[in-house]
Formats: sequence, C-alpha cells, structure tokens
Amino acid sequence: MIAALKDRVVIVTGGAHGIGKAYCLGFANAGARVVIADIDKPGARAVASEIGAQALAIQVDVSNEDATKKMATKTLERFSRIDVLINNAAVFSVVPMHRGRIETIDPDEWDQLMAVNLRGLFFCCRAVLPAMRKQQSGKIINIASGTVFAGAPGRIHYVTSKAATIGFTRTLAREVGADNINVNCLAPGNTLSEENPTEQTIKFRESSVRLRSLKRIQMPQDVVGAMLFLASPLSDFMTGQTVNVDGGISFL
Ligand SMILES: NC(=O)c1ccc[n+]([C@@H]2O[C@H](COP(=O)([O-])OP(=O)(O)OC[C@H]3O[C@@H](n4cnc5c(N)ncnc54)[C@H](O)[C@@H]3O)[C@@H](O)[C@H]2O)c1
Repeated sequence: MIAALKDRVVIVTGGAHGIGKAYCLGFANAGARVVIADIDKPGARAVASEIGAQALAIQVDVSNEDATKKMATKTLERFSRIDVLINNAAVFSVVPMHRGRIETIDPDEWDQLMAVNLRGLFFCCRAVLPAMRKQQSGKIINIASGTVFAGAPGRIHYVTSKAATIGFTRTLAREVGADNINVNCLAPGNTLSEENPTEQTIKFRESSVRLRSLKRIQMPQDVVGAMLFLASPLSDFMTGQTVNVDGGISFL
C-alpha cells in the first residue's frame, strides 16, 4: 500500500498484457482503483479478476474516439473521478508490427500504427481532460521508448510514433498546466514483456544487456516504480518531462 495512491482512479490503456499489466498490478498493490482498458476484452477481464473489486475491465480500441469517450464515461460511472491516465496501448507486440527496413514497411501498416500509437493518445487525453479540468487535478503519463534516443533500425514507423509522443507530452503539459494537470512521459528500455517468449525473443531482449550500465534483462516490473512515482504527489511539480528507465543505456 502507498498512502498517496490509495483510492486514486487510474486508467491503464493496453493494461491486459505486458508492461501495462505490470502497471495495473503495481497500482492495485498500491491501493489504487484500476481501470484495465484494452482492445482484448478477455485479457482485460482476466487482469481485473486477478485484482478484485477495486478493478474495472473496459474493452476499448483507443483509435476510435467514441470508444475512448465511453471509456471515460464508464470510469466516471463506476468511480466518479479520473486521477491518472496511462497511455500505454500500442501496436508493438500483442498487436504486432512488421520489423524491417523502411522499404519493406507497408504504408497501410504505417497508418494503422499511427492510428493506435498517436491518434489513440490524442483521443484518450481528450476523453479524460473534461473530468480532470473539473477536478482541477490529474496526471497523464504517456509511454515513449528508449528507441527514440539512439534510433532503432527496422521499425521506423514505431520509433517515429514514440518520438512524436515526447513532443505531444511537452505541448499538452503547457496547455493543461493551468488546470493543475501534469503530463509526463515514461520511456522504457528493451523489456521482456512477452508472456510466452520464444528463444529468438529472449535473444533479442538479451542483446541490450551489453549496452546497459546495469547488466541484466529488463523486465516489466523494472518500470513500475518510476510509473508509480509519476502518478503520485511525489512528482507534483514535474511536467513535460521524459523519464528514461533502461538500466543505463542512454543518458538524457
Ligand atoms: N517491451 C518493450 O521493450 C518496450 C520498450 C519501450 C516502450 N514500450 C512501450 O510500452 C508499452 C507496452 O509495451 P508492451 O511490451 O507491454 O506491449 P504489448 O504489445 O505486450 O502490450 C500492448 C497492449 O496494448 C493493447 N492494445 C493494442 N492495440 C490496442 C488498441 N487499439 N486499443 C487498446 N488496446 C490496444 C494490447 O492488447 C496489449 O494489451 C507500449 O506503448 C510500447 O510501445 C515497450
């Protein structure tokens, strides 16, 4: 239990799997009320039942504005407020992206990835801001990626979307600061987020170990502490920032 997070209402998009699920469990252990908002309805329900009565599962496609408005309405119906929004859903692994050089990326996949990773971010923020402005408080935490700092050949669409997330964060922070709303960004490093990783996936995750100051594979749990900090009053005077959690690969 973390007293400062007790009963806070936290929406985690993409909370059914991977790092998003670790955020959900971390917030639940801290005593928060957690909304698992994911395109995968059974996956969201499974995480909600693992947490218990303080959780709510909502099926949402973040690239659909009406669906994100419903996500906010259902959260308010159940919990009467929205304290934190974690924009974590992305085309990445569960909903996979093509990995290959620029010439091999299908323009339709470029658009689909931007629709989830960026329009989704835009829509989810717009959906919760009326409640946060009314409360005169709120925390929005967007998820970027360590790939932005060094570049990552083989997924230029994904890295572009995550770089844009940082600019989005800085701009929204300036737009909503007067309403006492913080907007920050968390950038995880190469994290073993797959539930049933293949040997090839484990090798890929291991490939970052030699670049790290801290010499081990990064796990979803490694990012949760920084997330709880950004969602708590301990970070009340931080906004527009990007916190990099990669075991010491890139120094910003
Ligand atoms: N794993 C890493 O190495 C890593 C590194 C840096 C950043 N990230 C970022 O962290 C976040 C989580 O990564 P992960 O590895 O857990 O990814 P993941 O693919 O395992 O999980 C993403 C979640 O988003 C959900 N989702 C996908 N499309 C959606 C949509 N349209 N609407 C709602 N939900 C949708 C999926 O169902 C899934 O639960 C992502 O934003 C990712 O880009 C991951």
